[in-house]
Amino acid sequence: MPDNDRKVCIIGAGRVGSTLALALRRAGCEIVGVASRSEQSARRLGERLGCPFTVRPAECTRNAGVVLITVPDREIGAVAAAIQSRGGFAAGQLVAHTSGATPAEVLAPARADGAAIASIHPLQSFADVEAALERLPGCYFGVEGDPAGVSRARRLVEDLGGVPLEVNVVDKALYHAAACVASNYLVAVIHLATELLGRCGWSRTDALKALAPLVDGTRENLRDLGVVRALTGPVVRDDRSTLKWHLAALARLDDGYEGVYRALGAYTVGIAREQNALGAVQARELTALFEGVLDRG
Ligand SMILES: NC(=O)c1ccc[n+]([C@@H]2O[C@H](COP(=O)([O-])OP(=O)(O)OC[C@H]3O[C@@H](n4cnc5c(N)ncnc54)[C@H](OP(=O)(O)O)[C@@H]3O)[C@@H](O)[C@H]2O)c1
Repeated sequence: MPDNDRKVCIIGAGRVGSTLALALRRAGCEIVGVASRSEQSARRLGERLGCPFTVRPAECTRNAGVVLITVPDREIGAVAAAIQSRGGFAAGQLVAHTSGATPAEVLAPARADGAAIASIHPLQSFADVEAALERLPGCYFGVEGDPAGVSRARRLVEDLGGVPLEVNVVDKALYHAAACVASNYLVAVIHLATELLGRCGWSRTDALKALAPLVDGTRENLRDLGVVRALTGPVVRDDRSTLKWHLAALARLDDGYEGVYRALGAYTVGIAREQNALGAVQARELTALFEGVLDRG
């Protein structure tokens, strides 16, 4: 990596900004400054890193080779415009944000001052800084932006021990929807399972503990067998009596659980078809069952 790309400043001392700052320092980069909206956040990270901190981003961007903007998505454009209006960008810098959904183009004010622009989105959930720091090596990062920005962003990711993969700007919404499904909606599915176990009289704590080995086993199957062969259960077995039993039990609850179960069941039929576990007629009939076209009894 060019020496200048080893001088990084972080704008937004939240979960992602703090994690990446600590990881970049661990990778041998110098964090030349930290800025945040509140002095408290800027100070917390600045003192931890032993670097200057400020609530005025343009003060710390000027000396950096890389400006990493890790503020909430809706703030990125305004933050970039504010830095530019105070002369905070310089030719030759790499200016990047970490949003998965927002195009790098939102950083156009930095490009106007001669910087290369990119977005560098870690495919990881940053609920807690320490845990995210441990999980970062080996993570995939979706990278998008100007050609010069992308090639420098790729090197930055590799320096972090991550794996860069390019995302076309027109595909960003789909790319981010995929990340949302794999992380947020996985949480939603497990939440639903704990709710159903709650109806069996189990506490949420017991339910989550009891489901953990099942979820871990499924995750290992996904890794070892691939996403199609990992599927087991009543859909691949075409076990309609069990599925009807589930649907009848869910229909007695009036919390919308049945609708989610039906939608996921209908989607699962397609996976069972890919596995060649079901013929076309079986698949059509199971889909009809989940869509409520067949008799529920
Ligand atoms: N969390 C994840 O799992 C995850 C994963 C991948 C990518 N991302 C992306 O990473 C970015 C940051 O997310 P996050 O989860 O780290 O958010 P976060 O924890 O809420 O942190 C955002 C930080 O930005 C600061 N900030 C807000 N407005 C600002 C402004 N106008 N000027 C300067 N600083 C400002 C906040 O400052 P104060 O604390 O000082 O108020 C806060 O510390 C987002 O684009 C998000 O989509 C998040």
